[in-house]
Amino acid sequence: MPVRLHINIDHVATVRNARGTRYPDPVFAAGLCEAAGADGITAHLREDRRHIRDDDVERLRVSIDSLFNLEMAVTEEMLGIAARVKPDVITLVPERREERTTEGGLDVEGQRAGIEAAVKMAKERGIKVSLFIAPDEASVEASAALGVAQVELHTGEYCHAAGARAEEELGRLRRAAARASALGLEVAAGHGLTRRNVGPVVAIPDIVEVNIGHSVIADAVFFGLERAVRDLRRAINRGARNRARS
Ligand code: PXP
Repeated sequence: MPVRLHINIDHVATVRNARGTRYPDPVFAAGLCEAAGADGITAHLREDRRHIRDDDVERLRVSIDSLFNLEMAVTEEMLGIAARVKPDVITLVPERREERTTEGGLDVEGQRAGIEAAVKMAKERGIKVSLFIAPDEASVEASAALGVAQVELHTGEYCHAAGARAEEELGRLRRAAARASALGLEVAAGHGLTRRNVGPVVAIPDIVEVNIGHSVIADAVFFGLERAVRDLRRAINRGARNRARS
């Protein structure tokens, strides 16, 4: 099974919002990503609407042919939007207003009540739930106990590390992925991944999906979005060939 590639189009909206124009349109970008072979589109509706906005979410829902993964904080407002829009997947993430991007994984125990409400809402509507967590055993086990279908392991620490530290972080990802898989969870990975560093992550046999945004939009500035997605797909396929050996 090839590793699923979901492209996060948030930063197309970042460029648009920088000037208050209608272009570049993240919905148009989503179509190009699909045409270039993305298996799904990811967008994060942040509480401060710094990139994706409510009407983007509505338009993405009707235009995406592949799979729509909506990332959101565990708040009543966001759960209400998800209940109405019905993305294929919701990925629950921690969110702090002052952060530059999602830092750290969900505090699954601390947010148990909210996550339980999200799981109930999603189950009633046929929406899959994924939890964005740090690659540690406690978070994996707490996620499994809540009956979600998937966890997405935070790859930020791996992406920021080098040399032996990167190897250590890969070890954490490998162990967390194996534990999640043994508990019956699907395992995704994301944050900070690029066509250069994604290989060792997708070589981990339990990882079946990656969500990648910033680096692919950055590559698109120079090479165009379709080529950026295709290059990323090639890097993933190359990395995944090492699965048996990892
Ligand atoms: N996965 C999750 C859960 C995220 O919150 C983000 C950032 O919005 C990503 C993946 C994509 O991260 P990046 O933009 O660094 O590729």
